[in-house]
Amino acid sequence: MTDPFRIDGQVALITGGGRGLGRAMAVGLARAGADIVVVARRDADLAETVVAVEAAGKRCLAVSGDVIADETAPRAVKTALDAFGRLDILINNAGTYHMGPIQETEPADWQRVIDVNLMGIFRFARAVGPHFLERGSGKVVNIASVLGTFGVGEATAYCASKAGVMGFTRSLAIEWAPRGINVNAIAPGLFNTDMSAGILQNEAFYKQIVAGIPRGTHGEPEDLVGTCVWLCSKASDHVVGQVVHVDGGATIV
Ligand SMILES: NC(=O)c1ccc[n+]([C@@H]2O[C@H](COP(=O)([O-])OP(=O)(O)OC[C@H]3O[C@@H](n4cnc5c(N)ncnc54)[C@H](OP(=O)(O)O)[C@@H]3O)[C@@H](O)[C@H]2O)c1
Repeated sequence: MTDPFRIDGQVALITGGGRGLGRAMAVGLARAGADIVVVARRDADLAETVVAVEAAGKRCLAVSGDVIADETAPRAVKTALDAFGRLDILINNAGTYHMGPIQETEPADWQRVIDVNLMGIFRFARAVGPHFLERGSGKVVNIASVLGTFGVGEATAYCASKAGVMGFTRSLAIEWAPRGINVNAIAPGLFNTDMSAGILQNEAFYKQIVAGIPRGTHGEPEDLVGTCVWLCSKASDHVVGQVVHVDGGATIV
């Protein structure tokens, strides 16, 4: 019997695949059998991901670009189709944040977070759409956050964008499920990446956050990989429009 968690021969496109959770998912999906295309702005980071994926025994192409730009998503999809002749999986992971009281938040800073975190996933889903719809299959995994589920002060743009990712996921899941495409989201809790370095290095704040995590610790990027592989594989074919919280239990207390 075929292992329902294997994705051998498939191709995954991962935004924000240059470091952090995106790189871990790229390597994890490669270990599960997929070739990879990663998108981010920093070429040096992308090059490191390529090396890591190739060490896992699969091919990896880097697409340098900003998810906000009109042309990045179509170019990334074309790169995948030209090189591999297929595209099976989209991981919408690129994300950014801005912290600050609302009175001190410039509209441009607020807009940038919405554009990267929300408009970016719209652009990439729209770009893979024709291919996935024509084939009648595909897996989309959007990376939300526990901060789309519960609130934290001085993060209005981030919280709004991640709640938006969850709403986007449910709507597109309903639109595409009858066409054979699964759209789901993962809401990570606190993970050890560049994005959260400020929290992990602030002992008092870190202690306060960890006190609210039943498992008693933050996640390492590798802790996200199993859920990602599951949502990209046949094992999750009947999972539609869900937001899976991978947070050590932070959202259940
Ligand atoms: N770490 C956490 O605790 C945590 C918790 C919940 C949710 N998340 C979410 O998980 C996702 C990954 O976060 P992470 O912690 O891995 O962050 P990270 O270490 O900062 O990595 C973010 C990745 O996204 C890319 N990126 C950012 N803005 C981009 C843009 N405009 N265009 C293209 N690529 C862009 C970055 O590359 P370049 O800068 O080179 O473009 C980088 O590769 C994000 O959506 C984040 O909101 C993280």
